[in-house]
Amino acid sequence: MAESMVGLKRTHRCTELNESNVGQQVTVMGWVGTQRNKGGIVFVDLRDRSGILQIIFEENDIGSEGFEKASKLRNEDVIAVVGTVENRAGAVNDKLATGKIEVRAKQIRVLSQSDVLPFPIEENSKTKEELRLKYRYLDLRRPDLQKNIMMRSKIASEIRAFMAKEGFIEIETPMLGKSTPEGAREYVVPSRVHPGSFYTLPQSPQLFKQLLMCSGYDRYIQIVKCFRDEDLRADRQPEFTQVDMELSFVDVEDVLDVNERLIKHVCKESIGLDVTLPLPRMTWQEAMDRFGSDKPDTRFGLELVDVSDVVKNCGFGVFTSALENKGSVRGINVKGQAAMPRKKIDALVEMAKGSGAKGLAYLCINEDGTYKSSFAKFMTDEELDLLVKAMNGEPGDLLLFAADKNKIVWTVLGQLRLELGKQLELYDENQFNFLWITEFPLLEWSDEEDRFVAMHHPFTMPMDEDWQYIDTDPGRVRAKAYDIVLNGVELGGGSVRIHQADIQSKMFEVLGLSEETAKERFGFLLDAFRYGVPPHAGLAYGLDRFVMLLMHADSIRDVIAFPKVKDASCLMTQAPNVVPQKQLDELCIEIKKPVEE
Ligand code: AMO
Ligand code: AMP
Repeated sequence: MAESMVGLKRTHRCTELNESNVGQQVTVMGWVGTQRNKGGIVFVDLRDRSGILQIIFEENDIGSEGFEKASKLRNEDVIAVVGTVENRAGAVNDKLATGKIEVRAKQIRVLSQSDVLPFPIEENSKTKEELRLKYRYLDLRRPDLQKNIMMRSKIASEIRAFMAKEGFIEIETPMLGKSTPEGAREYVVPSRVHPGSFYTLPQSPQLFKQLLMCSGYDRYIQIVKCFRDEDLRADRQPEFTQVDMELSFVDVEDVLDVNERLIKHVCKESIGLDVTLPLPRMTWQEAMDRFGSDKPDTRFGLELVDVSDVVKNCGFGVFTSALENKGSVRGINVKGQAAMPRKKIDALVEMAKGSGAKGLAYLCINEDGTYKSSFAKFMTDEELDLLVKAMNGEPGDLLLFAADKNKIVWTVLGQLRLELGKQLELYDENQFNFLWITEFPLLEWSDEEDRFVAMHHPFTMPMDEDWQYIDTDPGRVRAKAYDIVLNGVELGGGSVRIHQADIQSKMFEVLGLSEETAKERFGFLLDAFRYGVPPHAGLAYGLDRFVMLLMHADSIRDVIAFPKVKDASCLMTQAPNVVPQKQLDELCIEIKKPVEE
């Protein structure tokens, strides 16, 4: 039986009521949470998106028919209640915003009845995520998810408000487009009108926002869906949301300045966090050398130490051969962990191998100053002492070393550092360390493609003083590119763009892109640059990541209303799905049997 709400109008959300409303008649509506029937009195926790309000039903107030309805309520029935706000007769509940009051019901209508639920609607749910995602509309009723989703809305509206005040204009760019070069695989959409041709969904609005600068819009912002067909992780989704911006007549400093103030504003208005400006900055080189990562978590130490010079003539072949191959030997000093059980050390070695190391050398400095080490036998006492000194080693410390090409050493020790930071609880969960990483390399060597690829994207401006090396030593050229990092997560990234035809063609040449290919792929942009282009620069944040971090969510899925799972499917709608043959015929598409792996 479902009653109508004709004649009733909601006056308040559940937690919009407080002691100042005592004595007033109100109409509230929502879902039935816990019910307690105490013989003659029924208590119901009524829930809406604002929170929980206690309703008290007694036959004297509501009549026998109404009381019967109240007695039969079940979890998640949707009801409307007209009643009077009262101070609680029973115990005050300090945990609830409305813990001092209750509503004494005079009228009840059951607007909708609920079947038995597949899982309880509760905070910190213990239900498996797969089941919750299948019934996401129920999962989204849980207070913790509602908090995240509402905070996401708040953050987005604070961003819009701040950017509007700073003179940014919101402009929409197409979803059906042509390839944008952000380096991920793209989602393609077949065209019915042009059989055999495909649109691609944007990995970002990169080219369009640069064109908008050519068109004179000066300061652009868009909160926009982007699509990337990449392997999913806790902080990655196939469709995600960027806060995307571009500015004309600016250089690096201008972009960082407005974004620092944006971050400060958003953090204050959303979670009440005071961010001190200016934000710290670190060059890419320093970040790699100290933390083995271009998105360092600076909430704790465990920094990397380069000991290449110290071990270059030692007797340990693993170290010296890495150096002969133009690599390095670096270590981290895990303070006070010399007594770490062998099993745990072995697990670290396995982890290092998982991230590409051939091994992980360790040295424990016993309390009596003697060493226990996986490589001591290859070195003289003097060599070992020098190494320990270089690592600032003291009795009780555990030293871990990786020797290989720089890139591998950084990755291995960088990940080890994060793992140890977590295991040893070296950081405060409530600390927010924002950090700019600047001066990224322009290019990155790809073994896979046997050529240089753009580290950010091909439109990124090289640093003026490095451009001279583009032919002789391309790997040395740094870019006017920057990332904003929060607690070890890349929140956003951007760059100053190339606006000079000669630099852009040289870039394409270095990237191994022929003139024809460049024309075919980005001709419209290159053409646009012929007709008066302002110097411009921009940046994009991952909004999902921003909300995830500010809300201390474990996964990006907890801040997206309808997320996808690891294999990029939606457990609720079952997307992706086969489409009817008729639709395929219209698109002139024939399905080849997938190749078995
Ligand atoms: P970039 O590729 O660094 O830059 O992307 C910007 C930010 O978007 C977020 N992000 C993602 N979030 C969730 N899931 C994903 N799969 C995903 N991929 C990226 C990250 C990232 O920092 N056009 C440039 C920006 C520019 O140069 O202005 C761009 O897209 O937080
Ligand atoms: P082995 O002589 O192969 O037993 O190696 C001696 C120690 O060096 C072991 O602890 C290995 O894990 C470690 N090791 C091997 N390769 C490397 C490497 N590339 N970097 C650091 N340690 C390594």
